[in-house]
Amino acid sequence: PAPVKARIAVLAGDGIGPEVTEQAVRVLEAVAAARGHVFTLEDALVGGAAIDATGSALPEETLAACRRSDAVLFGAIGGPKWGPSAKVRPEQGLLALRKGLGLFANLRPVTVNPRLAGASPLKAEVIAGVDLLVVRELTGGIYFGEKRREGASAFDACTYTEDEVARVVRVAARLARGRRRKLTSVDKANVLETSRLWRDVATRVVKEEFPEVVLDHHLVDSCAMQLVRRPADFDVVVTENMFGDILTDEASVIAGSIGLLPSASLGEGTFGLYEPIHGSAPDIAGRGLADPYGTIASAAMLLRHSLGLEREAALVEQAVARAVDGGALTADLGGSTSTEAAGTAVVQALESLV
Ligand code: NAI
Ligand code: MG
Repeated sequence: PAPVKARIAVLAGDGIGPEVTEQAVRVLEAVAAARGHVFTLEDALVGGAAIDATGSALPEETLAACRRSDAVLFGAIGGPKWGPSAKVRPEQGLLALRKGLGLFANLRPVTVNPRLAGASPLKAEVIAGVDLLVVRELTGGIYFGEKRREGASAFDACTYTEDEVARVVRVAARLARGRRRKLTSVDKANVLETSRLWRDVATRVVKEEFPEVVLDHHLVDSCAMQLVRRPADFDVVVTENMFGDILTDEASVIAGSIGLLPSASLGEGTFGLYEPIHGSAPDIAGRGLADPYGTIASAAMLLRHSLGLEREAALVEQAVARAVDGGALTADLGGSTSTEAAGTAVVQALESLV
């Protein structure tokens, strides 16, 4: 396969963001060295670190660095220093970035390493074999609707257009086609008009464009229950913004630690933003305790979805599994391996695999 040249913007952010991102960067560099690719990495400020340096959570320069890149690797942002009363908040950086880059589909895969089954509050036999992917619509729905407060009442509008639904269903159906071909669309069509639109569009798009994908519809409340009762039954789940926000947090407990889980945010093309699902963890920042596996797994998704390097992505995922199987467990996984040593374990596993 031909070597790939790619530009990657690295936005490490605050708290443990820089610690976990550093390990993911080491892994990307090891992949490049082993397979002859050339990755040009460009660091840029975001979140609290950017506020301290420039007064803005998303400086123009950072947005420009993202725009000239093929993908963005993102750590985490936020912290007590930039609390709720601050004039400029770090979180604004991430929202502005997603909107500014048109990233409307948020992918959160959940798999279970049998070695870590004990870390999950769910029974080992319930989570055995889980391999699911939630695709959440990220830029529409009630979070972005008109909001108002008038005297003793308040109002939040939930709006979706057919195009907004169709494009995220297409992303999910395409992914399902490359997996077990099972797509579950989640809505509340017994109550909400936006959900009835969602169901109609999902049905039409899958029928017309993805005939090989088997689509079923779940109501969100029953889906929430099935996710912890029979999580192995799910392949790809697609849902609107707020339902997805809730279901992805719920799904994250299956794997055992928030530190393990990656995510991707995609738009129309191959450009994407990749980040662990956790935040900046100020309680453990700066002590070498953070679990870097979620960020490393996010780098694997970057290789897969933005650079088209499926084989390399799979290698990184295997290397993480090997590191874990070899006992490189950070504190959240019940071990005492440092952030850096966990990164080293992945790099070494990778070198033995290629
Ligand atoms: P958090 O995810 O930062 O931490 C929750 C708990 O999980 C903490 O006990 C933390 O130590 C632990 N944890 C998180 N990541 C870990 C890792 N990689 N390894 C080991 N343990 C880990 O969520 P929290 O505490 O609610 O928020 C902290 C800050 O992060 C806040 O400012 C919040 O706004 C921000 N945040 C940022 C996000 C982002 O950048 N996308 C997402 C969520 C929160
Ligand atoms: Mg959330």
